[in-house]
Parts: sequence; structure tokens; C-alpha cells
Amino acid sequence: METYRIAVVAGDGIGPEVMAECVKVLKAAAALDGGFAFEFTDFPWGCEYYLKTGKMMPDDGIETLSGYDAILLGAVGYPGVPDNISLRDLLLRIRHDFDQYVNLRPVKLLKGAPCPLKDVKQEDINMTFVRENTEGEYAGSGAWLYKGQPNEVVIQNGVFSRKGTERVIRYAYELARKEHKTLTSISKANALNYSMVFWDSVFKEVGEEYPDVETHSYLVDAASMFMVKDPGRFQIVVTSNLFGDILTDLGAAIAGGMGLAAGANLNPERKFPSMFEPIHGSAPDIAGRQIANPLAAIWSASQLLDFFGHEDWGARILEVMEDMLVNHREALTPDQGGTASTAECGDMFVKLLQG
Ligand code: NAD
Ligand code: IPM
Ligand code: MN
Repeated sequence: METYRIAVVAGDGIGPEVMAECVKVLKAAAALDGGFAFEFTDFPWGCEYYLKTGKMMPDDGIETLSGYDAILLGAVGYPGVPDNISLRDLLLRIRHDFDQYVNLRPVKLLKGAPCPLKDVKQEDINMTFVRENTEGEYAGSGAWLYKGQPNEVVIQNGVFSRKGTERVIRYAYELARKEHKTLTSISKANALNYSMVFWDSVFKEVGEEYPDVETHSYLVDAASMFMVKDPGRFQIVVTSNLFGDILTDLGAAIAGGMGLAAGANLNPERKFPSMFEPIHGSAPDIAGRQIANPLAAIWSASQLLDFFGHEDWGARILEVMEDMLVNHREALTPDQGGTASTAECGDMFVKLLQG
């Protein structure tokens, strides 16, 4: 029997609360299937660890994680530790060092999930974002000159390598071809006269190898407007790190809220472990109260199952999620109008999964 070794970095705030439910669901799926198993190892890394040790993870943290088949991440960041340290030294470090260059984020409105848009049908919101995940504006390249002086200058570079741009765009074309969907590139070449002119030219160039894929290109400002006014235009979407970050929070808002938004950080070559996470943060405003919605974390479990080739279980998890959103609303957490605690929501999920 195949046993997947999973590193669990639950992290900060509501991270551990939602992670407990995600792990529950994965264990239940494996037990029901009988053909595969999980072995979970917890790593208590994050802001509390930082306050004790001065580090977000041990010096050999990346080496330790490299021995696992996948990583589950809860959330990182907490008041008391500057966000630029906590996120860069843990979450962004893992994405970067494991070359998880594809950030796959479904923006799909499930049946029963709330949508703030008027006159939009449920099936009109069904996109997959392929966000570049290792470079762009989040590469961490720049300078801070004359700090504190009147002539102070800060520079944050946008880094777009040919290799990095080409591979993520190619991944998106392959996905569009496989799923018989349209592919939309979102960029901003009118103002970003180096990086985005380059991005657009690579999108066109790679596209010559995919004449069967219907493509569209939008400027990011117009794309934000269309995501609200006419989301049915978008199917597979490929975009840069920064634009993808912002647009997928907009995506979360139109597809049920932050409590339902998940993402996979993939190293498609499988040279390094990939990482699965809810896209929300540590939510310090509700942490420790058992009211966080675990469904986003559970959706990321569905992505993990897809990644390991158990698409039947990946799909089954989304089916159960819809069943909860439509027929068992009392078992949802308060952000979805329910009255259940995080753990009660997870328990009901497992019960429905078991049929
Ligand atoms: P956030 O996603 O933590 O919270 C935004 C709002 O959404 C809050 O009102 C919160 O209560 C709500 N929310 C988020 N997840 C929820 C859930 N599962 N159930 C119910 N409500 C939920 O974003 P923020 O407040 O901007 O950031 C808080 C901290 O998290 C910061 O330190 C930030 O840097 C970090 N952060 C981490 C990640 C990550 O680890 N992937 C992502 C985003 C932000
Ligand atoms: C996300 C988060 C991270 C990102 C932050 C916390 C560094 O916002 O996963 O969307 O920008 O990638
Ligand atoms: Mn984000």
C-alpha cells in the first residue's frame, strides 16, 4: 500500500485550528479507500517558534522538509513578529527553495456558496488561476538606500526570467489544452514597459505551440472589472505573482469568501515536495475561538489528493463540500451563516464523506 509522508506546518493563529480538520478529512479518505495511507509529521514552526528561538524554522528546516512527499501549511503571521520576516522566512522561503513555481488557485463558486454579485449564475464562476509563484515582484530583490535620510530611496524589483516566465505560461497552456478550456493572460504592458511587455511576448510565443487553445489577454485593471461584471469570461488564467495574489483574493470574495479559498504550490517536476494551503492568513481577529472556517483547508486537501493521482477523492471532497453548503448549513461556521465550531464542521464533513 502506498503511504504518503506529509509534513504539517500548521503555523499561527487559526492555522492549527483549520489544519486539524484538514488532517481529519485526509485520514478519513485514506481509511475509506483502503488503498493508500498518510503518515503525518507536525512541525511547530511559526511566530511562536520565532519568539522563542529567533527563527521561523530551524536552519536545516528546508532540508528536513525535502524528505516528505508533500507539505500542508495552515497560516503564517502574527502580531508581534513583523510580517516581512515571518512570511519571507517560512512561507515564501518554502515556495522559493522548493521551486514551487505554480500556484494553482481554483476560483469556483460551489453550489450553496454565497456570491455577492448580482445576476451571476453559479456555473459562471469557474476559473483556475495559475499564478507565477517564485519570482516577479515577490522575488525579494531590491535595495534601501540612505535609510532615514531626506534622500531615502527604496527599490523593489520585479524579476521576470525567461525560464521562470516561460515555464509557468507553458504549464497554463498545457492545463488549458488538457481541460479543453480557454486561457487568459493577465498583465499590464501599457505601464510596466519591461516586465509585462516581456510577459506578453512570451505568452504569444509559447502560444504558437498551442494553436488549439483559445486565448485572451487583459490588462489587470480591466480584468478586475470583468471578474466582477462578467466572470464567465475566465476559465484558465495565467498571471504574475503580484497580480495573482490580488486577483485571487478578489476571486475568493466572489466565490464564497476567504473561508472557502484554497491553493496548491506546485513543483510540477516533483523534484521537491509541493505545498497545499488555504489562501487565507492567520486571522488574528478570530484566532483561538474555534470559529474559523476549515473548508478552505479541506479544499487544499482535495488538491493534495488530486496531485497524488486520487482525483476521485479530490472530486468527492468538493461534492461533500457542496452537500454541506446546500443541505447542512447548520454545520457551517459563522462566516457562512452557520452555528458550528471549526471542529464540529470538520466532524460533519467526515460523517458525510463516510456516507
Ligand atoms: P486573513 O486572511 O488572515 O484575514 C482576513 C479576514 O478574513 C479576517 O477578518 C479574518 O477573520 C477572515 N478570515 C480569514 N480566514 C478565515 C477563515 N478560515 N474563517 C473565517 N474567517 C476567515 O488576512 P490578514 O488579516 O490580512 O492577515 C493576517 C495575518 O496573516 C498577517 O500576518 C498576514 O501577513 C498573514 N497572511 C498569511 C497568509 C498565509 O499564511 N498563507 C496569507 C495571507 C495573510
Ligand atoms: C498568499 C499570501 C502570501 C502571498 C503572503 C502572505 C506572502 O498573501 O498566499 O496569497 O502574497 O503569496
Ligand atoms: Mn494573498
